[in-house]
Amino acid sequence: MILVAYLEVFIMSTRSLFPLFGIISTCLELTSGWRQCRNQPGDPGFPTQEQWDQLNSQVGGRLISVVPSAKFCHDLPSGSCTEAEWISTTFRSTIPGAMDNYNWEQDYSSNPPSICLQNGTTCGQGNVPIFAVNASSISDIQAGVNFARTHNLKLSVKASGHDFLGRSTAKGSLMLWTHYFRNITFDDDFVVGNNSVGNTMTVGSGVPLNMMYQSAKAQGKMVCAGFASTVVASGGYIQGGGHSAFSPALGLAVDNVVQFEIVTADGKLLTANEDEHSDLFWALRGGGAGSWGVIISTTFKTFPAFNATALTTIYLSTSLNSTLSVVEAHTNHSSDWDALRAGQYFYIYPTYPGVPGTVISISTLFPNATNETASAAMAPLLTDLNALNVTQVYLNSETALASDIVTTADDQLGANNLLGSRLIPTSVYENNVQGVVDTYKALIESGVQGILSHFVAGGKVAENKDLDVSVNSKWRNAKSHLIAATTYPDNTTVSEVEDIKDTMTNKWVPLLAKLTGESDSGAYSNEADAREPNFQVTFFGDNYKKLLATKNKYDPNGLFIVTAGVGSEGWNAEGLCRAN
Ligand SMILES: *[C@@H]1O[C@H](CO)[C@@H](O)[C@H](O)[C@H]1NC(C)=O
Ligand SMILES: *[C@@H]1O[C@H](CO)[C@@H](O)[C@H](O)[C@H]1NC(C)=O
Ligand SMILES: *[C@@H]1O[C@H](CO)[C@@H](O)[C@H](O)[C@H]1NC(C)=O
Ligand SMILES: *[C@@H]1O[C@H](CO)[C@@H](O)[C@H](O)[C@H]1NC(C)=O
Ligand SMILES: *[C@@H]1O[C@H](CO)[C@@H](O)[C@H](O)[C@H]1NC(C)=O
Ligand SMILES: *[C@@H]1O[C@H](CO)[C@@H](O)[C@H](O)[C@H]1NC(C)=O
Ligand SMILES: *[C@@H]1O[C@H](CO)[C@@H](O)[C@H](O)[C@H]1NC(C)=O
Ligand SMILES: *[C@@H]1O[C@H](CO)[C@@H](O)[C@H](O)[C@H]1NC(C)=O
Ligand SMILES: *[C@@H]1O[C@H](CO)[C@@H](O)[C@H](O)[C@H]1NC(C)=O
Ligand SMILES: *[C@@H]1O[C@H](CO)[C@@H](O)[C@H](O)[C@H]1NC(C)=O
Ligand SMILES: *[C@@H]1O[C@H](CO)[C@@H](O)[C@H](O)[C@H]1NC(C)=O
Repeated sequence: MILVAYLEVFIMSTRSLFPLFGIISTCLELTSGWRQCRNQPGDPGFPTQEQWDQLNSQVGGRLISVVPSAKFCHDLPSGSCTEAEWISTTFRSTIPGAMDNYNWEQDYSSNPPSICLQNGTTCGQGNVPIFAVNASSISDIQAGVNFARTHNLKLSVKASGHDFLGRSTAKGSLMLWTHYFRNITFDDDFVVGNNSVGNTMTVGSGVPLNMMYQSAKAQGKMVCAGFASTVVASGGYIQGGGHSAFSPALGLAVDNVVQFEIVTADGKLLTANEDEHSDLFWALRGGGAGSWGVIISTTFKTFPAFNATALTTIYLSTSLNSTLSVVEAHTNHSSDWDALRAGQYFYIYPTYPGVPGTVISISTLFPNATNETASAAMAPLLTDLNALNVTQVYLNSETALASDIVTTADDQLGANNLLGSRLIPTSVYENNVQGVVDTYKALIESGVQGILSHFVAGGKVAENKDLDVSVNSKWRNAKSHLIAATTYPDNTTVSEVEDIKDTMTNKWVPLLAKLTGESDSGAYSNEADAREPNFQVTFFGDNYKKLLATKNKYDPNGLFIVTAGVGSEGWNAEGLCRAN
């Protein structure tokens, strides 16, 4: 908290000194376009009402004002949203200012903090943009990009608002909202350069996963993407790399992309593929969300539809010792499903509201497998677990088209969530069972609320190691993407929130890093700690230098700067002012 206060004072004093340097900075602006800070409301360079009106008419009246999600609900004719609406990601995705993890809407670090809560009596705009372009055409996006560049504004780009690092919202920004980009096309012979790349599906950057899967299903096809209702595959998801329950069979999502359409900082619409703007095409396949431009559409390879079995079981444990025995047994068996190329979500919630004990949930998705095959593959683990001092409270097996298995109508979020993570190498699960158990023990004893292990690597993800994409190469020898998660209620004080963030960055993430046994351990940039201190290495590994060069080529003035994104080290924490 002291550090944050210090930084705020520092930034404010830099701003108040600004008039002194007016002449110098004007010269710099004229010669190189270099500017110290983005224009915020109240700054002399902030657009006038007349200029905003001009933008509004350029985008056909689609410039809208944006408010925090709590204010949006409060301003409804009914005076509130229902509790079901508040936590529904489908509902939230229609609110321009809403983040699914609404802690990112809050500005805890300004003095006083600017916060807007569900049942609060006051409401600050926080880190929520002021205006958004509710885009319906590519030219709407181009007009917004050009306006932000011309007026030196902060930009934010939002598809669904599911981001776990808050990268789709920014204080005082103009938001470009792609929610209504819902074009979907299929090709049996998609051509890149002079080569056919076969069957593809092209989705706009507003198409949610449930719509994408069901459209593919209608064509007898399947795509490699995530497991959430409203996440947009053609948004931040793909730029971070994209993991899937079917990744061990099909690779990462970026391994299956053949083309992007993107509006870059100069306002141009570019096609990026192996043949055109291939450096940008490379960067977009793992170089991080929000850093390259506004994606209009992404073209994915498709696969013939296949059936899958999802086998889910839930155990309750009432002692730490029993929970750790489950972790040990699970680690013992963690290669049992490799041959079947199954993906698995192994989640532990040490405390779960309303549940007397620790919840342990194991959900395994077996591509092309019958219930009998899946049950037989799980039996050795379940036999061991049933011998432990834990209670199995749920067991279900479902066999259906893979596209139906991963389609969810809605998800429940609408909470204050923080994550930190590491990609855990396969060798750790093979050779250091005790290390895995000790890490879970230390995390649980220090109060973590969720330990979410995603066994979505190995198999095809490892086999694709020579693909020339920018996604962190640590994925290629990983077995799991392991997350430490925590949530906090709205009545948490600002200093308590700071303590929780501090614990994430300085205690839980280092425990995960230690488990990797690597000094340059890696993490999946889409589900990670926004304060990752060495994000260049952790998120992008060996690719950082080339990514930064590509960033400087396509976005030399940093229009697309996000937290822990490529080039963000040149800016302050809010991405509003040059760091030096
Ligand atoms: C806000 O109030 C509603 C209605 O009383 C309640 O259901 C909800 O849990 C409250 N939310 C918070 C975050 O306190
Ligand atoms: C955004 O535009 C769509 C039509 O493209 C419209 O249905 C929707 O209500 C608009 N949303 C807001 C918040 O203005
Ligand atoms: C949607 O498809 C139509 C028809 O091909 C095209 O004219 C339009 O530009 C597309 N919109 C976006 C946002 O890609
Ligand atoms: C594609 O084919 C045309 C005609 O043969 C040729 O001129 C062009 O160079 C080829 N392009 C690429 C990228 O190979
Ligand atoms: C999936 O299983 C059903 C029921 O056995 C079968 O009718 C269908 O053909 C299978 N679909 C595929 C794509 O294999
Ligand atoms: C099983 O768990 C219960 C509840 O935590 C505990 O009281 C009991 O001692 C445990 N039994 C064994 C054999 O560990
Ligand atoms: C649980 O407790 C037993 C008996 O004290 C001990 O032998 C075992 O190693 C413990 N298990 C774990 C995973 O800590
Ligand atoms: C894990 O495997 C080791 C070695 O085979 C065995 O001693 C231990 O009992 C197993 N742990 C559990 C909890 O099944
Ligand atoms: C499912 O099985 C079919 C037929 O053997 C095969 O062609 C396809 O690649 C498999 N799909 C997956 C995801 O394993
Ligand atoms: C799946 O297979 C197991 C083991 O053969 C059996 O006990 C169970 O009833 C089956 N479940 C379904 C949904 O078919
Ligand atoms: C904060 O809210 C929780 C419920 O979410 C409640 O149990 C707790 O007592 C509240 N704490 C304070 C200090 O009001």
